[in-house]
Amino acid sequence: MPWHLSLTVDRNAQLPLGAQVQGSLRRLIEDGTLSSGSRLPSSRQLAADLEISRSVVVEAYEQLSAEGYLVARRGSGTVVAENVRDHPGAGSVLTSPQPEPTDATWDLRTGSSDVSTFPRQEWIRSVAAALTDAGRTELGYGPPSGVLLTRHVLVGYLGRVRGVRTQPQNLMITAGFAQGLALLCKVLRDRGHDALGVEDPGHPGEREFITSAGLRPVGIPVDADGLRVDRLEESGVRVVLTTPANQFPTGVPLSQERRERLISWARAVDGYVVEDDFDSAYLNRSERIPALQSLAPDRVVYAGSASKVLAPALRLGWMAAPSELMASVESARVGWDIGCSGIEQLAFARFITEGAHDRHQRKLRAEFRKRRELVRELLPHHLPGARVLGGDSGLQAYVELPPGVDETALVQSARARSVLVRGGTFYTLDDRTRPPALVVSYATVGCPGLKASTAALGAAYREVTGRRPG
Ligand SMILES: Cc1ncc(COP(=O)(O)O)c(C=O)c1O
Repeated sequence: MPWHLSLTVDRNAQLPLGAQVQGSLRRLIEDGTLSSGSRLPSSRQLAADLEISRSVVVEAYEQLSAEGYLVARRGSGTVVAENVRDHPGAGSVLTSPQPEPTDATWDLRTGSSDVSTFPRQEWIRSVAAALTDAGRTELGYGPPSGVLLTRHVLVGYLGRVRGVRTQPQNLMITAGFAQGLALLCKVLRDRGHDALGVEDPGHPGEREFITSAGLRPVGIPVDADGLRVDRLEESGVRVVLTTPANQFPTGVPLSQERRERLISWARAVDGYVVEDDFDSAYLNRSERIPALQSLAPDRVVYAGSASKVLAPALRLGWMAAPSELMASVESARVGWDIGCSGIEQLAFARFITEGAHDRHQRKLRAEFRKRRELVRELLPHHLPGARVLGGDSGLQAYVELPPGVDETALVQSARARSVLVRGGTFYTLDDRTRPPALVVSYATVGCPGLKASTAALGAAYREVTGRRPG
Protein backbone atom coordinates (compact mmCIF):
# COMPACT_ATOMS: atom_id res chain seq x y z
CA MET A 1 0.00 0.00 0.00
CA PRO A 2 1.36 3.46 -0.80
CA TRP A 3 1.72 5.63 2.27
CA HIS A 4 -0.61 8.39 3.13
CA LEU A 5 1.43 11.55 3.60
CA SER A 6 0.42 14.30 5.97
CA LEU A 7 1.61 17.18 3.81
CA THR A 8 0.01 20.56 3.61
CA VAL A 9 0.38 23.42 1.18
CA ASP A 10 -0.33 27.08 1.75
CA ARG A 11 -1.99 28.76 -1.21
CA ASN A 12 -1.34 32.20 0.24
CA ALA A 13 2.40 31.67 0.67
CA GLN A 14 4.84 33.38 -1.72
CA LEU A 15 6.59 30.07 -2.35
CA PRO A 16 5.13 28.28 -5.39
CA LEU A 17 3.11 25.12 -4.66
CA GLY A 18 5.66 22.89 -6.41
CA ALA A 19 8.49 24.24 -4.27
CA GLN A 20 6.37 23.69 -1.16
CA VAL A 21 5.71 20.05 -2.05
CA GLN A 22 9.39 19.47 -2.89
CA GLY A 23 10.58 21.16 0.31
CA SER A 24 8.20 19.17 2.53
CA LEU A 25 9.14 15.86 0.93
CA ARG A 26 12.84 16.64 1.16
CA ARG A 27 12.48 17.43 4.86
CA LEU A 28 10.54 14.23 5.55
CA ILE A 29 13.25 12.22 3.81
CA GLU A 30 16.16 14.05 5.44
CA ASP A 31 14.76 13.76 8.95
CA GLY A 32 14.12 10.06 8.41
CA THR A 33 10.32 10.21 8.60
CA LEU A 34 10.37 8.69 5.13
CA SER A 35 13.10 6.05 5.11
CA SER A 36 14.76 4.38 2.12
CA GLY A 37 12.33 2.16 0.25
CA SER A 38 9.22 3.96 1.56
CA ARG A 39 6.60 4.06 -1.09
CA LEU A 40 5.01 7.39 -1.95
CA PRO A 41 1.39 7.90 -2.93
CA SER A 42 0.80 8.07 -6.65
CA SER A 43 1.00 11.58 -8.08
CA ARG A 44 -2.74 11.37 -8.75
CA GLN A 45 -3.45 10.42 -5.13
CA LEU A 46 -1.23 13.08 -3.59
CA ALA A 47 -2.57 15.74 -5.93
CA ALA A 48 -6.12 14.78 -4.91
CA ASP A 49 -5.21 14.83 -1.18
CA LEU A 50 -3.66 18.27 -1.49
CA GLU A 51 -6.27 19.52 -3.95
CA ILE A 52 -3.64 20.71 -6.36
CA SER A 53 -2.89 19.97 -9.99
CA ARG A 54 -1.33 16.58 -10.67
CA SER A 55 1.36 18.16 -12.86
CA VAL A 56 2.68 20.01 -9.78
CA VAL A 57 3.19 16.69 -7.98
CA VAL A 58 4.67 15.00 -11.07
CA GLU A 59 7.19 17.82 -11.40
CA ALA A 60 8.07 17.62 -7.70
CA TYR A 61 8.62 13.85 -7.96
CA GLU A 62 10.75 14.32 -11.08
CA GLN A 63 12.88 16.99 -9.45
CA LEU A 64 13.45 14.90 -6.32
CA SER A 65 14.29 11.91 -8.50
CA ALA A 66 16.86 14.01 -10.38
CA GLU A 67 18.35 15.01 -7.02
CA GLY A 68 18.59 11.37 -5.96
CA TYR A 69 15.92 11.41 -3.24
CA LEU A 70 13.35 9.30 -5.08
CA VAL A 71 13.41 6.47 -7.57
CA ALA A 72 10.59 5.62 -9.93
CA ARG A 73 10.15 1.82 -10.09
CA ARG A 74 8.20 0.25 -12.89
CA GLY A 75 5.15 -1.43 -11.43
CA SER A 76 5.65 -0.26 -7.86
CA GLY A 77 5.49 3.51 -8.17
CA THR A 78 7.83 6.02 -6.59
CA VAL A 79 9.94 5.08 -3.57
CA VAL A 80 12.57 6.83 -1.43
CA ALA A 81 16.08 6.06 -2.75
CA GLU A 82 18.63 3.91 -0.87
CA ASN A 83 21.10 5.57 1.52
CA VAL A 84 19.61 8.95 0.84
CA ARG A 85 20.27 10.22 4.38
CA ASP A 86 23.93 9.28 4.36
CA HIS A 87 25.02 12.08 2.08
CA PRO A 88 26.85 14.78 4.00
CA GLY A 89 25.76 17.58 1.65
CA ALA A 90 22.05 17.09 2.26
CA GLY A 91 20.25 20.07 3.71
CA SER A 92 22.17 23.13 2.54
CA VAL A 93 19.85 25.61 0.90
CA LEU A 94 22.41 27.39 -1.26
CA THR A 95 24.17 24.37 -2.60
CA SER A 96 20.95 22.33 -3.00
CA PRO A 97 20.99 18.88 -1.49
CA GLN A 98 23.27 16.52 -3.32
CA PRO A 99 22.43 13.04 -2.10
CA GLU A 100 24.87 10.72 -3.75
CA PRO A 101 23.45 7.46 -4.94
CA THR A 102 25.92 4.78 -3.96
CA ASP A 103 26.03 3.45 -7.50
CA ALA A 104 27.20 6.70 -9.16
CA THR A 105 30.88 6.83 -10.10
CA TRP A 106 31.14 10.42 -11.34
CA ASP A 107 29.49 13.52 -9.99
CA LEU A 108 29.49 16.30 -12.59
CA ARG A 109 26.91 18.40 -10.76
CA THR A 110 27.73 21.98 -9.82
CA GLY A 111 27.89 23.15 -6.22
CA SER A 112 31.15 21.78 -4.87
CA SER A 113 34.76 22.74 -4.91
CA ASP A 114 37.60 20.23 -4.94
CA VAL A 115 37.86 19.78 -1.18
CA SER A 116 40.22 16.83 -1.63
CA THR A 117 42.93 19.46 -2.19
CA PHE A 118 42.20 21.32 1.05
CA PRO A 119 45.60 22.46 2.39
CA ARG A 120 45.15 20.78 5.76
CA GLN A 121 48.64 21.29 7.15
CA GLU A 122 48.84 24.97 6.25
CA TRP A 123 45.37 25.61 7.62
CA ILE A 124 46.19 23.76 10.84
CA ARG A 125 49.33 25.91 11.18
CA SER A 126 47.25 29.08 10.74
CA VAL A 127 44.65 27.98 13.29
CA ALA A 128 47.36 26.89 15.76
CA ALA A 129 49.17 30.22 15.43
CA ALA A 130 45.93 32.19 15.82
CA LEU A 131 45.06 30.22 18.96
CA THR A 132 48.54 30.51 20.41
CA ASP A 133 48.48 34.28 20.04
CA ALA A 134 44.87 34.75 21.13
CA GLY A 135 44.44 36.71 24.35
CA ARG A 136 41.34 37.57 26.34
CA THR A 137 40.04 39.93 23.68
CA GLU A 138 40.40 37.46 20.83
CA LEU A 139 38.72 34.72 22.86
CA GLY A 140 35.81 36.93 23.85
CA TYR A 141 32.90 38.26 21.77
CA GLY A 142 34.15 40.16 18.73
CA PRO A 143 32.37 42.79 16.66
CA PRO A 144 29.37 41.19 14.86
CA SER A 145 30.78 42.43 11.55
CA GLY A 146 33.97 40.49 12.06
CA VAL A 147 37.44 40.71 13.57
CA LEU A 148 38.92 44.06 12.60
CA LEU A 149 42.32 42.64 11.68
CA THR A 150 40.74 40.17 9.27
CA ARG A 151 38.61 42.89 7.72
CA HIS A 152 41.75 45.00 7.20
CA VAL A 153 43.54 42.07 5.59
CA LEU A 154 40.57 41.31 3.35
CA VAL A 155 40.22 44.92 2.24
CA GLY A 156 43.87 44.85 1.16
CA TYR A 157 43.55 41.44 -0.45
CA LEU A 158 40.35 42.21 -2.39
CA GLY A 159 41.82 45.51 -3.52
CA ARG A 160 44.93 43.73 -4.75
CA VAL A 161 43.29 40.80 -6.56
CA ARG A 162 39.88 42.21 -7.59
CA GLY A 163 40.28 45.98 -7.51
CA VAL A 164 37.56 46.22 -4.83
CA ARG A 165 37.40 49.70 -3.28
CA THR A 166 36.20 49.58 0.30
CA GLN A 167 37.09 50.24 3.94
CA PRO A 168 37.14 47.80 6.88
CA GLN A 169 34.06 49.52 8.35
CA ASN A 170 32.13 48.77 5.15
CA LEU A 171 33.14 45.11 4.97
CA MET A 172 31.47 42.36 6.94
CA ILE A 173 32.66 38.80 7.50
CA THR A 174 29.76 36.44 6.96
CA ALA A 175 29.08 32.74 7.26
CA GLY A 176 29.58 32.30 3.52
CA PHE A 177 27.91 34.20 0.71
CA ALA A 178 24.65 32.59 1.80
CA GLN A 179 24.46 34.52 5.04
CA GLY A 180 25.37 37.80 3.37
CA LEU A 181 22.55 37.28 0.89
CA ALA A 182 20.08 36.39 3.65
CA LEU A 183 21.00 39.50 5.66
CA LEU A 184 20.76 41.71 2.63
CA CYS A 185 17.36 40.30 1.65
CA LYS A 186 16.09 41.01 5.17
CA VAL A 187 17.27 44.61 4.95
CA LEU A 188 15.75 45.08 1.50
CA ARG A 189 12.44 43.64 2.68
CA ASP A 190 12.48 45.98 5.70
CA ARG A 191 13.07 48.85 3.29
CA GLY A 192 9.95 47.98 1.33
CA HIS A 193 11.38 45.99 -1.59
CA ASP A 194 9.20 43.08 -2.60
CA ALA A 195 11.26 41.73 -5.50
CA LEU A 196 14.86 41.10 -6.47
CA GLY A 197 16.19 40.60 -10.00
CA VAL A 198 18.09 37.36 -10.57
CA GLU A 199 19.84 35.93 -13.58
CA ASP A 200 17.87 33.39 -15.58
CA PRO A 201 19.41 30.84 -15.76
CA GLY A 202 20.97 31.20 -12.35
CA HIS A 203 21.46 29.52 -9.01
CA PRO A 204 18.24 27.81 -7.81
CA GLY A 205 19.48 27.76 -4.20
CA GLU A 206 19.89 31.53 -4.21
CA ARG A 207 16.34 31.89 -5.49
CA GLU A 208 15.12 29.79 -2.58
CA PHE A 209 16.93 32.07 -0.15
CA ILE A 210 15.39 35.12 -1.71
CA THR A 211 11.92 33.61 -1.56
CA SER A 212 12.36 32.54 2.07
CA ALA A 213 13.25 36.14 2.91
CA GLY A 214 9.87 37.21 1.52
CA LEU A 215 11.16 38.65 -1.75
CA ARG A 216 10.05 37.58 -5.21
CA PRO A 217 12.90 36.55 -7.53
CA VAL A 218 12.35 38.14 -10.95
CA GLY A 219 14.21 36.35 -13.73
CA ILE A 220 16.30 38.51 -16.06
CA PRO A 221 17.50 36.62 -19.15
CA VAL A 222 21.16 36.11 -19.95
CA ASP A 223 22.73 36.03 -23.42
CA ALA A 224 26.24 35.85 -24.87
CA ASP A 225 27.13 39.20 -23.26
CA GLY A 226 25.76 38.28 -19.83
CA LEU A 227 22.78 39.76 -18.02
CA ARG A 228 20.28 41.48 -20.36
CA VAL A 229 20.37 44.94 -18.82
CA ASP A 230 17.66 46.12 -21.26
CA ARG A 231 15.30 43.55 -19.74
CA LEU A 232 16.34 44.57 -16.25
CA GLU A 233 15.42 48.15 -17.10
CA GLU A 234 11.90 46.98 -18.03
CA SER A 235 11.48 44.73 -15.00
CA GLY A 236 10.58 47.27 -12.33
CA VAL A 237 13.00 45.83 -9.74
CA ARG A 238 15.55 48.11 -8.09
CA VAL A 239 18.07 45.53 -6.93
CA VAL A 240 19.64 42.75 -8.96
CA LEU A 241 21.83 39.81 -7.97
CA THR A 242 24.38 39.00 -10.64
CA THR A 243 27.60 37.08 -11.33
CA PRO A 244 29.28 39.52 -13.74
CA ALA A 245 32.79 38.03 -13.80
CA ASN A 246 31.61 34.58 -14.84
CA GLN A 247 27.86 34.18 -15.17
CA PHE A 248 26.59 31.15 -13.28
CA PRO A 249 26.01 28.70 -14.89
CA THR A 250 26.61 29.83 -18.52
CA GLY A 251 30.19 31.02 -17.91
CA VAL A 252 29.87 34.22 -19.96
CA PRO A 253 31.42 37.44 -18.62
CA LEU A 254 29.33 40.62 -18.59
CA SER A 255 30.45 42.81 -21.50
CA GLN A 256 32.08 46.17 -20.80
CA GLU A 257 29.18 48.05 -22.37
CA ARG A 258 26.70 46.24 -20.12
CA ARG A 259 28.82 46.75 -17.03
CA GLU A 260 28.53 50.48 -17.60
CA ARG A 261 24.84 50.32 -18.45
CA LEU A 262 24.17 48.26 -15.33
CA ILE A 263 25.74 50.90 -13.12
CA SER A 264 23.78 53.64 -14.90
CA TRP A 265 20.59 51.63 -14.29
CA ALA A 266 21.39 51.30 -10.55
CA ARG A 267 21.90 55.07 -10.31
CA ALA A 268 18.76 55.84 -12.31
CA VAL A 269 16.49 53.66 -10.14
CA ASP A 270 18.32 54.54 -6.92
CA GLY A 271 19.01 50.84 -6.52
CA TYR A 272 21.83 48.35 -6.02
CA VAL A 273 23.69 45.68 -7.88
CA VAL A 274 24.70 42.68 -5.75
CA GLU A 275 27.88 41.24 -7.24
CA ASP A 276 28.35 37.54 -6.43
CA ASP A 277 32.06 37.08 -7.16
CA PHE A 278 31.93 33.43 -6.15
CA ASP A 279 34.59 31.87 -8.39
CA SER A 280 36.82 34.76 -9.44
CA ALA A 281 39.80 32.67 -8.29
CA TYR A 282 39.34 30.69 -11.51
CA LEU A 283 39.11 33.53 -13.97
CA ASN A 284 41.54 33.13 -16.79
CA ARG A 285 44.09 35.91 -16.99
CA SER A 286 42.52 37.55 -20.07
CA GLU A 287 39.11 37.58 -18.36
CA ARG A 288 40.36 38.83 -15.01
CA ILE A 289 39.08 42.38 -15.16
CA PRO A 290 38.43 44.19 -11.89
CA ALA A 291 35.23 43.55 -9.99
CA LEU A 292 32.18 45.55 -11.05
CA GLN A 293 32.25 47.10 -7.58
CA SER A 294 35.39 49.02 -8.54
CA LEU A 295 33.27 51.06 -10.99
CA ALA A 296 30.74 52.17 -8.38
CA PRO A 297 31.41 51.33 -4.71
CA ASP A 298 28.34 53.44 -3.84
CA ARG A 299 25.99 51.24 -5.90
CA VAL A 300 27.48 47.75 -5.83
CA VAL A 301 27.39 45.29 -2.96
CA TYR A 302 30.37 43.00 -3.45
CA ALA A 303 30.35 39.48 -1.97
CA GLY A 304 32.62 36.47 -2.08
CA SER A 305 33.61 33.49 0.03
CA ALA A 306 36.24 30.86 0.77
CA SER A 307 33.93 28.08 -0.43
CA LYS A 308 35.39 27.63 -3.92
CA VAL A 309 39.08 27.92 -3.03
CA LEU A 310 39.22 26.34 0.43
CA ALA A 311 36.07 24.56 1.56
CA PRO A 312 32.36 25.34 2.00
CA ALA A 313 32.60 23.83 5.50
CA LEU A 314 34.59 26.85 6.72
CA ARG A 315 31.49 29.02 6.20
CA LEU A 316 33.71 32.05 5.63
CA GLY A 317 32.52 34.83 3.39
CA TRP A 318 32.66 38.61 3.05
CA MET A 319 30.46 41.38 1.88
CA ALA A 320 31.40 44.99 1.13
CA ALA A 321 28.49 47.42 0.90
CA PRO A 322 27.98 51.16 0.56
CA SER A 323 28.12 52.63 4.07
CA GLU A 324 24.46 53.58 4.44
CA LEU A 325 23.40 50.05 3.43
CA MET A 326 26.08 48.42 5.59
CA ALA A 327 24.72 50.27 8.62
CA SER A 328 21.37 48.50 8.16
CA VAL A 329 23.03 45.14 7.49
CA GLU A 330 25.02 45.53 10.71
CA SER A 331 21.87 46.24 12.71
CA ALA A 332 20.27 43.14 11.22
CA ARG A 333 23.38 41.10 12.10
CA VAL A 334 23.36 42.15 15.75
CA GLY A 335 19.98 40.50 16.20
CA TRP A 336 21.06 37.48 14.21
CA ASP A 337 24.13 35.56 15.41
CA ILE A 338 26.67 38.00 16.93
CA GLY A 339 29.25 37.12 14.27
CA CYS A 340 31.33 34.18 13.03
CA SER A 341 34.13 32.29 14.81
CA GLY A 342 36.86 34.81 15.69
CA ILE A 343 39.57 32.16 15.74
CA GLU A 344 38.77 31.02 12.20
CA GLN A 345 38.79 34.63 11.05
CA LEU A 346 42.20 35.21 12.59
CA ALA A 347 43.46 31.98 11.02
CA PHE A 348 42.16 33.14 7.65
CA ALA A 349 43.91 36.52 8.00
CA ARG A 350 47.16 34.69 8.68
CA PHE A 351 46.57 32.27 5.83
CA ILE A 352 46.32 35.25 3.48
CA THR A 353 49.18 37.34 4.85
CA GLU A 354 51.60 34.39 4.87
CA GLY A 355 50.91 33.74 1.19
CA ALA A 356 49.28 30.33 1.71
CA HIS A 357 46.07 31.50 0.08
CA ASP A 358 47.81 32.72 -3.07
CA ARG A 359 49.89 29.54 -3.26
CA HIS A 360 46.89 27.27 -2.93
CA GLN A 361 44.87 29.29 -5.40
CA ARG A 362 47.66 29.19 -7.97
CA LYS A 363 47.84 25.41 -7.68
CA LEU A 364 44.10 24.98 -8.09
CA ARG A 365 43.95 27.45 -10.95
CA ALA A 366 46.49 25.42 -12.92
CA GLU A 367 44.63 22.17 -12.20
CA PHE A 368 41.25 23.58 -13.20
CA ARG A 369 42.69 25.03 -16.38
CA LYS A 370 43.85 21.52 -17.37
CA ARG A 371 40.43 20.07 -16.60
CA ARG A 372 38.67 22.89 -18.47
CA GLU A 373 40.78 22.45 -21.58
CA LEU A 374 40.10 18.73 -21.55
CA VAL A 375 36.35 19.12 -21.08
CA ARG A 376 36.12 21.78 -23.79
CA GLU A 377 37.93 19.47 -26.17
CA LEU A 378 36.06 16.27 -25.27
CA LEU A 379 32.47 17.46 -24.96
CA PRO A 380 32.02 18.66 -28.57
CA HIS A 381 33.57 15.36 -29.68
CA HIS A 382 31.34 13.12 -27.57
CA LEU A 383 28.22 15.25 -28.03
CA PRO A 384 28.22 16.09 -31.76
CA GLY A 385 26.21 19.23 -32.55
CA ALA A 386 26.62 20.54 -28.99
CA ARG A 387 28.24 23.91 -28.26
CA VAL A 388 30.17 24.83 -25.15
CA LEU A 389 29.26 28.37 -24.13
CA GLY A 390 31.19 30.91 -22.16
CA GLY A 391 34.70 32.05 -21.71
CA ASP A 392 37.71 30.22 -20.52
CA SER A 393 37.04 30.41 -16.77
CA GLY A 394 35.24 28.81 -13.88
CA LEU A 395 34.44 25.33 -12.69
CA GLN A 396 31.78 24.18 -15.12
CA ALA A 397 30.95 24.07 -18.82
CA TYR A 398 27.50 25.04 -20.06
CA VAL A 399 26.81 22.84 -23.06
CA GLU A 400 24.03 23.90 -25.39
CA LEU A 401 22.48 20.92 -27.13
CA PRO A 402 20.88 20.88 -30.57
CA PRO A 403 17.18 21.85 -30.52
CA GLY A 404 14.88 18.92 -29.81
CA VAL A 405 17.32 16.88 -27.72
CA ASP A 406 15.43 15.50 -24.72
CA GLU A 407 17.43 16.95 -21.83
CA THR A 408 15.63 14.95 -19.14
CA ALA A 409 16.12 11.68 -21.00
CA LEU A 410 19.80 12.52 -21.44
CA VAL A 411 20.26 13.23 -17.72
CA GLN A 412 18.56 9.94 -16.88
CA SER A 413 20.56 7.99 -19.41
CA ALA A 414 23.78 9.51 -18.04
CA ARG A 415 22.71 8.50 -14.58
CA ALA A 416 22.16 4.94 -15.73
CA ARG A 417 25.83 5.08 -16.79
CA SER A 418 26.96 6.25 -13.37
CA VAL A 419 27.25 9.93 -14.28
CA LEU A 420 25.40 12.54 -12.23
CA VAL A 421 24.86 15.70 -14.22
CA ARG A 422 22.17 18.38 -14.45
CA GLY A 423 20.26 19.77 -17.38
CA GLY A 424 19.87 23.48 -18.09
CA THR A 425 16.27 23.52 -16.83
CA PHE A 426 17.50 22.87 -13.30
CA TYR A 427 18.91 26.42 -13.36
CA THR A 428 16.08 28.04 -15.30
CA LEU A 429 13.47 30.23 -13.66
CA ASP A 430 11.11 31.28 -16.51
CA ASP A 431 13.18 31.68 -19.65
CA ARG A 432 11.91 28.74 -21.72
CA THR A 433 13.49 30.12 -24.92
CA ARG A 434 16.87 28.55 -24.21
CA PRO A 435 17.86 25.42 -26.13
CA PRO A 436 18.27 22.20 -24.11
CA ALA A 437 21.57 22.08 -22.23
CA LEU A 438 23.80 20.20 -19.85
CA VAL A 439 25.86 21.87 -17.14
CA VAL A 440 29.02 19.85 -16.62
CA SER A 441 31.06 20.64 -13.52
CA TYR A 442 34.69 19.58 -13.36
CA ALA A 443 35.15 20.76 -9.78
CA THR A 444 35.42 17.34 -8.18
CA VAL A 445 36.53 14.98 -10.98
CA GLY A 446 40.16 14.93 -12.16
CA CYS A 447 41.34 14.49 -15.76
CA PRO A 448 41.21 10.66 -15.89
CA GLY A 449 37.68 10.68 -14.49
CA LEU A 450 36.67 13.41 -16.92
CA LYS A 451 37.83 11.30 -19.86
CA ALA A 452 35.76 8.35 -18.66
CA SER A 453 32.69 10.35 -17.62
CA THR A 454 32.49 12.45 -20.80
CA ALA A 455 32.75 9.23 -22.82
CA ALA A 456 29.86 7.83 -20.75
CA LEU A 457 27.94 11.05 -21.44
CA GLY A 458 28.66 10.49 -25.13
CA ALA A 459 27.14 7.00 -24.94
CA ALA A 460 24.06 8.44 -23.23
CA TYR A 461 23.83 11.10 -25.94
CA ARG A 462 24.02 8.46 -28.67
CA GLU A 463 21.26 6.50 -27.01
CA VAL A 464 18.98 9.52 -26.71
CA THR A 465 19.73 11.29 -30.02
CA GLY A 466 21.11 8.59 -32.29
CA ARG A 467 24.00 10.96 -33.14
CA ARG A 468 27.51 9.52 -33.31
CA PRO A 469 30.84 11.38 -33.10
CA GLY A 470 31.82 12.45 -36.64
C1 LIG B 1 26.67 31.04 -7.69
C2 LIG B 1 27.25 30.77 -6.33
N1 LIG B 1 27.41 31.78 -5.48
C3 LIG B 1 27.96 31.61 -4.25
C4 LIG B 1 28.33 30.37 -3.81
C5 LIG B 1 29.03 30.22 -2.47
O1 LIG B 1 28.16 30.11 -1.42
P1 LIG B 1 28.72 30.04 0.08
O2 LIG B 1 29.78 31.07 0.20
O3 LIG B 1 27.52 30.34 0.93
O4 LIG B 1 29.23 28.66 0.32
C6 LIG B 1 28.16 29.27 -4.64
C7 LIG B 1 28.52 27.91 -4.16
O5 LIG B 1 28.16 26.91 -4.70
C8 LIG B 1 27.60 29.47 -5.93
O6 LIG B 1 27.45 28.45 -6.78
